Amino acid sequence: MKKYRDLAGDAGSGVARQLLDQTARLQARMAAVQHKVAILSGKGGVGKSALTSNLAAVLAGEGARVGVLDADLNGPSLAKMLGVRGAALRMGPAGVEPPEGPLGIKVFSMDLLLPRDEAPVRWDAPTERESYVWRGTVEAAALREFLSDTAWGPLDFLLLDLPPGTDRVSTLASLLPEVGAAVVVTIPTEVSHLTVKRSISMAKELWGPSALGVVENMAAYVCARCGGEGPLFRGPDSAAMARELGVAFLGRIPFEPRLAEAADRGVPYVMAEPETPAAAALRAVTAALRALVERRAALPAADGSVVG
Ligand SMILES: Nc1ncnc2c1ncn2[C@@H]1O[C@H](COP(=O)(O)OP(=O)(O)OP(=O)(O)O)[C@@H](O)[C@H]1O
Ligand SMILES: [Mg+2]
Repeated sequence: MKKYRDLAGDAGSGVARQLLDQTARLQARMAAVQHKVAILSGKGGVGKSALTSNLAAVLAGEGARVGVLDADLNGPSLAKMLGVRGAALRMGPAGVEPPEGPLGIKVFSMDLLLPRDEAPVRWDAPTERESYVWRGTVEAAALREFLSDTAWGPLDFLLLDLPPGTDRVSTLASLLPEVGAAVVVTIPTEVSHLTVKRSISMAKELWGPSALGVVENMAAYVCARCGGEGPLFRGPDSAAMARELGVAFLGRIPFEPRLAEAADRGVPYVMAEPETPAAAALRAVTAALRALVERRAALPAADGSVVG
């Protein structure tokens, strides 16, 4: 069997050339995006995707050119939430054309590549038991392709919806060392804060504290019938957590059952029911996010981080 030391260069496979080409494509694509914004948590099910789809709709409604990359390869939900499930992918001269959701939001998701509803994503490995060894590497490669081979065109915002798992933050940062902001979503429970704090520490190290903004989702319950508002969890305060960790707090969003119903119909809640408390809260969070990215763009690298 040949050992690595017997191989000269990439042994004629062309892999090194392909990687260099792809990295160059990634840099060129991302240079046309003014603000890259990662939406993460570490914790699952706290509303990252619901927030992403609504942030995208508010920004697009204000006239921004917006793209959304669903970086959740195993549980993609943005194609559904933005109503483009089943859209056919076309190959254009500049790469794969992302389908457009409401307000011209460009969407790319693993969901658009999966053959049928129940098929899970499988990574090739000699046996299923070994596949975990490959998963991290292959996920990073797939994300690099989604970023570099999609014809995003010039964008004001590219929102990247991350899957749960603290390690996902470092995978994305290896591809995007520059972000305009990293939005960290939590719910007001100790269980959520436990994981979210770890993600905040990691994101601070990777992108700098000034990139981070915490959003508290499911902060209160809004009654679907009477519109009255009351507490949902009596847990710890996420604004206080953000303050302790030295990062910005972008606002709170209440739990409104109809928000989930709108997401199921593929319509962002801010469009479906713009007069509701949650829609107003989502617009306020978007304004705070805009202020964060603009502040950082105007005052680059105060904490040694790179702004992008
Ligand atoms: N404020 C809210 N009010 C009502 N429903 C909500 C709210 N936020 C999220 N949801 C709903 O809760 C469910 C979970 O939200 P979502 O899928 O956005 O979480 P996630 O953090 O992206 O999950 P995952 O970790 O699996 O990616 C969805 O059905 C979503 O529509
Ligand atoms: Mg999600």
